[in-house]
Amino acid sequence: MPTRLAVCVSGRGSNLVALLDALTGSPEAQVVLVLSNRADAPALLRARERGIDAEHLRNPADGGEWLGYLRGAEVDLVVLAGYLRLVPPVVVAAYRGRIINIHPALLPAFGGPGMYGHRVHEAVLKSGATESGATVHLVDEVYDRGQILAQARVPVRPDDTPDSLAARVLEAEHRLLPAVVLRAAKAGRPVPVPEFA
Ligand code: GRF
Repeated sequence: MPTRLAVCVSGRGSNLVALLDALTGSPEAQVVLVLSNRADAPALLRARERGIDAEHLRNPADGGEWLGYLRGAEVDLVVLAGYLRLVPPVVVAAYRGRIINIHPALLPAFGGPGMYGHRVHEAVLKSGATESGATVHLVDEVYDRGQILAQARVPVRPDDTPDSLAARVLEAEHRLLPAVVLRAAKAGRPVPVPEFA
């Protein structure tokens, strides 16, 4: 039986699409549900175009609403792919160790509340770091704090802007997330992926 995935999104959904492309025809895992806190998230359309159940969370702070969808779809693993709100604690507790998030920097640096989107890349550039990347980690009750499973590194170039760095990191995200999800599916739970760690 393939691992049944829910993917949670807030915006455009390029990581969702990368994951769907990587899983096409895979016996290991399939995306059965997409959830968004935004009814107008382009990612919901991307999912529906492919015939995947894609739902708007009317109250993203309501754990009961989440659990209704996740249990209804018999979800094994939850993937936050550009989901910008906190997952309700009751959902973290019910799926502990089975929720992963992708973050566009090398955690534990440049994470935490308010560190999303361009703010992350602006902070990296301001710090003078010569390297950035993407991190996949387990989700717990605190933003960006859970166990790191894998990281993909990219150089920061002297002439980078937040946009150019974001594009380089995003390309790394699109390789990293499917690799971690497929490894999790094989192992039956999210596990570290050492070649990316
Ligand atoms: C990604 O950079 C992800 O790491 C961050 O938000 C962005 C989402 O992009 N948390 P997309 O919606 O997957 O295109």
